[in-house]
Amino acid sequence: MKEAAAKTIYLKDYREPDFQIERVDLTFKLFEDGTEVNSRLKLKRVANAQSQDLFLNGDSLQLKSLGIDGRLLAEDAYTSDDETLTVFAVPNEFELQVVTWIKPQENKRLEGLYKSSSMFCTQCEAEGFRHITYYLDRPDVLSVFTTRIEADKNKYPRLLSNGNAVDSGDLADERHFVTWHDPFPKPCYLFALVAGDLHCEEDSFTTISGREICLRLFVEHKNADKCDYAIDALKRSMRWDEEVYGREYDLELFMIVAVDDFNMGAMENKGLNIFNSSCVLAKPETTTDSAYLRIEAIVAHEYFHNWSGNRVTCRDWFQLSLKEGFTVFRDAEFSADMNSPTVKRIEDVNLLRTAQFVEDAGPMSHPVRPSSYMEISNFYTLTVYEKGAEVVRMLHTFLGPEKFREGSDLYFERHDGQAVTTDDFVAAMEAVSGRDLSQFKRWYEQSGTPEVDVSADYNAASEQFSLRFKQSCPARPKQELKQPFHMPIAIGLIDAQGNDLTLNAEGDTTTIFELKEAEEVVTFENISAPPIPSLLRGFSAPVKLRYPYSDDQLLFLMANDSDGFNRWDASQQLALNVLQASIAQVQAGQAPVLPLSFIEAMRSIVSNDQLDKAMVCKLMSLPSESYLVEQSVVADVEAICKAREAARKQLANGLQKELVALYELNREPSSTPLDLDYAAMAKRNLKNAALGLLMASGEQSVIKRAQSQFQEASNMTDQFAALSTLVNSGDKIAAESALASFYQQWKNDAQVMEQWFAVQSGSASFADLAHIEALTKHKDFDVLNPNKLRSVVSVFAAQNYRHFHAEDGSAYAFLADKIILLDDQNPQIASRLMTPLTRWRKYNKTRQDLMIAQLQRIQGKQNLSKDVREVVEKSLPAS
Ligand code: BES
Ligand code: ZN
Repeated sequence: MKEAAAKTIYLKDYREPDFQIERVDLTFKLFEDGTEVNSRLKLKRVANAQSQDLFLNGDSLQLKSLGIDGRLLAEDAYTSDDETLTVFAVPNEFELQVVTWIKPQENKRLEGLYKSSSMFCTQCEAEGFRHITYYLDRPDVLSVFTTRIEADKNKYPRLLSNGNAVDSGDLADERHFVTWHDPFPKPCYLFALVAGDLHCEEDSFTTISGREICLRLFVEHKNADKCDYAIDALKRSMRWDEEVYGREYDLELFMIVAVDDFNMGAMENKGLNIFNSSCVLAKPETTTDSAYLRIEAIVAHEYFHNWSGNRVTCRDWFQLSLKEGFTVFRDAEFSADMNSPTVKRIEDVNLLRTAQFVEDAGPMSHPVRPSSYMEISNFYTLTVYEKGAEVVRMLHTFLGPEKFREGSDLYFERHDGQAVTTDDFVAAMEAVSGRDLSQFKRWYEQSGTPEVDVSADYNAASEQFSLRFKQSCPARPKQELKQPFHMPIAIGLIDAQGNDLTLNAEGDTTTIFELKEAEEVVTFENISAPPIPSLLRGFSAPVKLRYPYSDDQLLFLMANDSDGFNRWDASQQLALNVLQASIAQVQAGQAPVLPLSFIEAMRSIVSNDQLDKAMVCKLMSLPSESYLVEQSVVADVEAICKAREAARKQLANGLQKELVALYELNREPSSTPLDLDYAAMAKRNLKNAALGLLMASGEQSVIKRAQSQFQEASNMTDQFAALSTLVNSGDKIAAESALASFYQQWKNDAQVMEQWFAVQSGSASFADLAHIEALTKHKDFDVLNPNKLRSVVSVFAAQNYRHFHAEDGSAYAFLADKIILLDDQNPQIASRLMTPLTRWRKYNKTRQDLMIAQLQRIQGKQNLSKDVREVVEKSLPAS
């Protein structure tokens, strides 16, 4: 991309395309030195087209020939540059024939057509198709694709694309071809092609209406034993979407392919999903429970896109949350149904608070529906995904499950085969509910995290309890003045005995208050004694809510709230208060000391055998370093790390007896076959959390325990938890010997090696910058493989606070070096690596200056990609 070409795209400038493409016929001739792409487009000018000319997108393509209706075009009939092909004065209806030559073998951007290991594969969202051929590369141009693939028969026995295989046969020179036809019109970002020598795991699914769907998972032969779980998750997703959303699969064939080199987690190409290997391959010996849960969620997510994204797609990329926010909401509800709804909610809210709130407070802050961008790849963000899902969840809360389902049915029915907007989605919800959601739509338009302050007043004489709500939202880039949001606040009132009060004639114990104004009071009648309010139950709106709870009230809520999410939230608030006090002690040069009441509260949690075990894990875990950073005005990294470590050590010592008991109670003989049932996972999780916390005591007996678990483990969850405990033990020798033996055992398994890299990189007690640099020179490291890069560089920058924020700035320079190195090769990944540097405002002046200096160094690189440039320019202080 040339520097002069980078410009900002605005939502307000959206115009319908001048042409539609009724049909696309593609032929790919795959060779070892390049690929010839032959494209025939049936084009038709729309009624109120603006131009006589045809403009097509293309990026770094070599144009071999161009023709219209069978006649080659003279050179003065068209012009092309690095980004566009303009064909002058074209007729209203015609067939355009384009031949391009591309080099997938040299494509390290992993966009368009590229090679991963020995296979060819594609990634076209958002704007990758223009790296394959000239096209109207925008989501509002839907077309019917027919794709013929020709390749060497021995090297590439499998030739795959979207839809159904309609023809195949042999060609000269040991080559063969397969032709695919996809009957559903789609935008080109959903196009996919795969060619390789792959194992195929086959299964089938019978839909609700009795149609039999063939399911195929393609993987490299060495991974043939890692297919079962994803297929099972896929079948459960298909059933769930029928039951909960009434959505049936629409082709006869559904395929998934696993590839090792992939920028993202996975991609929903019509009928041919492509997955990052780490998000689909699994077997008990190599896969941890958390990886299983992630695979289940991603398989579901991409499958759900078949309706929320593919059958109904986005009009333009500003509408990205239309498909991503909705689909994240859908996969979250699926995971909640498969496992524990409360635990899933806690995890999602934790991500929102520790990462999305930070994004929304930083220089890249943008609304769920952005109004401008330079590079769309930079907008696949936590705001579009996670806050977008929260917006859909609020609609679900306002409407209730039945009306919401009616609304989604109407949305799919009205817009099947169309490219639409978030307004269309909200309009369907308005139509079925009769509600006016115009104020609600501010959630799509205004950036920043709203803040809600609540105060209570009890009037004994009138038996009234009232809550006063004040909402505001901080100014964000290009968003100075904010209008109040319309948000659901789920409220419960708890009496002194810990019981929920009944709040209405129907007997409800939770009520949804609809906050609309900047300031509002809600009053409850017939309240005979002052209750404790339980606010924002289930995290009913993505806001920062403040209420002046005393520590005793928080302890009371932790023990009594009927809303599991709020029990956890109270525990986090309490732990946050305690840790903030410890941080202040460290800053004052004192040894941080935990209040006894807090240790006792934790004791009652770890010895409570009535609670769901996964819930105990959540309640006993302290807020992360990143949450403590988010909660500080200026984050004192040393003090945060010291205070948190000291707190863990005091808990480990104070609760030693209980933690050892928990550990023993939840152990299973290592001969037990792995049970992936949710309760069994929770049991392992609790046992390993107990081990991890015990290790904070630094005692030799815990190291021994971890070593024997490491040696005896028959599943990756237990083996990896033991490894992680040893790496973080502070005992270098124990850490190194476990890492070495783990390496010997798993060095040939790419997915496990990613974990091996990550567990070291994230460990402040084990890995300093010199160790990280050594890892990047390890023979199993590959800077161009996004998974490997993430497991070393991103994990280091995001988790290893102590060393990443070393006050000499060395680690900032290291990160900048990696960004500069990757910028020419894979700009999407380079841009994602920028995130930690954009957070400079959170740190002290010394660190701010060091981070800014690295941002400036990056800015000075020649031919900076527009991906990285957009982030640099928005992050640097206005000069
Ligand atoms: N459509 C995206 C994948 C994508 C994102 C492609 C950005 C190109 C650019 C896919 O549906 C997705 O959202 N994947 C997520 C995982 C999901 C579970 C949230 C991912 O890849 O991280
Ligand atoms: Zn998605």
